[in-house]
Amino acid sequence: MKKLSIAMLSMLLAGSMLLTGCGGGNDAQTTTDDQSDSTASETNTDYKLAVDGTLTMATNAFFEPYEYYEGEEIVGIDAEVGKAIADKLGLNFAISDMEFDSIITAVSSGKADMGMAGMTVTPDREKNVDFSRTYATGVQSIIVPEGSDITSPDDLAGKKIGVQQGTTGDLYCTDDFGEEAMSRYSKGTDAIMALTQGKIDCVVIDNAPAQKYVEANEGLKILDTAYAEEDYAIAFAKDNTALKDAVDAALGELIEDGTVQSIIDKYITAD
Ligand code: ARG
Repeated sequence: MKKLSIAMLSMLLAGSMLLTGCGGGNDAQTTTDDQSDSTASETNTDYKLAVDGTLTMATNAFFEPYEYYEGEEIVGIDAEVGKAIADKLGLNFAISDMEFDSIITAVSSGKADMGMAGMTVTPDREKNVDFSRTYATGVQSIIVPEGSDITSPDDLAGKKIGVQQGTTGDLYCTDDFGEEAMSRYSKGTDAIMALTQGKIDCVVIDNAPAQKYVEANEGLKILDTAYAEEDYAIAFAKDNTALKDAVDAALGELIEDGTVQSIIDKYITAD
């Protein structure tokens, strides 16, 4: 039923864009007549883009290994998967780096085409954006200094908890431990800095960046939280179903042919 309404919506949108003459902000050719053996690059291209011919990804590039700076360049799993999607769609690729909690607004207002930031699908976010299929998972981890008296999530009560503002770590901990427990930072790295300076007792953040922080900072270790596994997906404006469908098709191909896994394996080494 959900499928049907999405299909109908995209037909309606395609129709209204034709009528208003503003369809297809991209230069790629529409191939709506061509139904035979279509690949992602040949799916419906009646989508709007913030910049003609370019797929603009909104992210917060302080989340290694998903997105982070190597010199001037933003690299990481999302940066590479995003680029591979743009390539499949025959589009240029641009990354717009911003605060994590600005991404959904940037996407829903059309300033960026998609939000890709190790972003967890949550019911609240789904009120404002539509999500692609899942391409990775994460769980929230607790980072503590070695020797901390926090040894399990039960010990978090009464502690000072550091999080990146607006992330699921922030949302869950605020729910569970209350406003007064929270110290919010614009970057995960700032939370880690505060932890190493003894200003807070722990940092709650996704497991993959947690691993990177612990590798980079001596004297820290990771505990698991009580929070369940999260699905990461790409966010789209609710009125840009055609783009979501095109990206989903491209992403699906990249998952099925192993490209996504090989990109993940490049940044996350199992051990
Ligand atoms: N998975 C968490 C969330 O969606 C954290 C994501 C933070 N991402 C980032 N690029 N800083 O809330």
